[in-house]
Amino acid sequence: MRADKVYLVGFMGAGKTSLARELGRRLGWKVEDVDDRIESRDGRSIREIFAQSGETHFRMIERLVVRDLLPLRQVVVATGGGTFADADNRAAIMADGAVAWVDVPLQVLLDRIPLDGSRPLAPNRTQMEQLYLLRLPAYAQAHVRLDAARLSVGELADVIIEWLGRTEMGTEMGSDLFFSRVREK
Ligand code: S3P
Repeated sequence: MRADKVYLVGFMGAGKTSLARELGRRLGWKVEDVDDRIESRDGRSIREIFAQSGETHFRMIERLVVRDLLPLRQVVVATGGGTFADADNRAAIMADGAVAWVDVPLQVLLDRIPLDGSRPLAPNRTQMEQLYLLRLPAYAQAHVRLDAARLSVGELADVIIEWLGRTEMGTEMGSDLFFSRVREK
């Protein structure tokens, strides 16, 4: 794992994109958003890709985007909710950078995510719940878990920057220790 790149993973609505922007600003690193890259690579919106070509095509583009991002350093990557759930993406991402799970309880996510069709995999609460439970074991493989519902974007950025510093010095903290520190706040 290298500390010159951060991947933010987690469910839809967890706030990965806003945290990535804040973190990128503070670190002076570039910010990349997997969803944006999928849209520009394909030339269609995510909604259109799902509606016209289906999820399989979407996941294929997503994997290409993950591969495109691998050579970049000093970058914060906001992944899509499903990016890290794919085993190949997960292995590549874990080997490439520091991976933080932006963890927000399901109830909070359910209140946040608009069921307006903008996220094709969030058509209703029941499906979202099922998807969330299915993906938890994948997200749990991240290097650290952030208790994101309890901290502001600025606080989360602070915590990640501190963690990166320790990782660089070779005193990488395990996710449990890290999480217990987060809890103290
Ligand atoms: C998806 C999450 C979305 C987007 C697409 C599929 C998913 O990203 O990639 O709608 O599978 O959970 P966000 O997590 O940025 O909403």
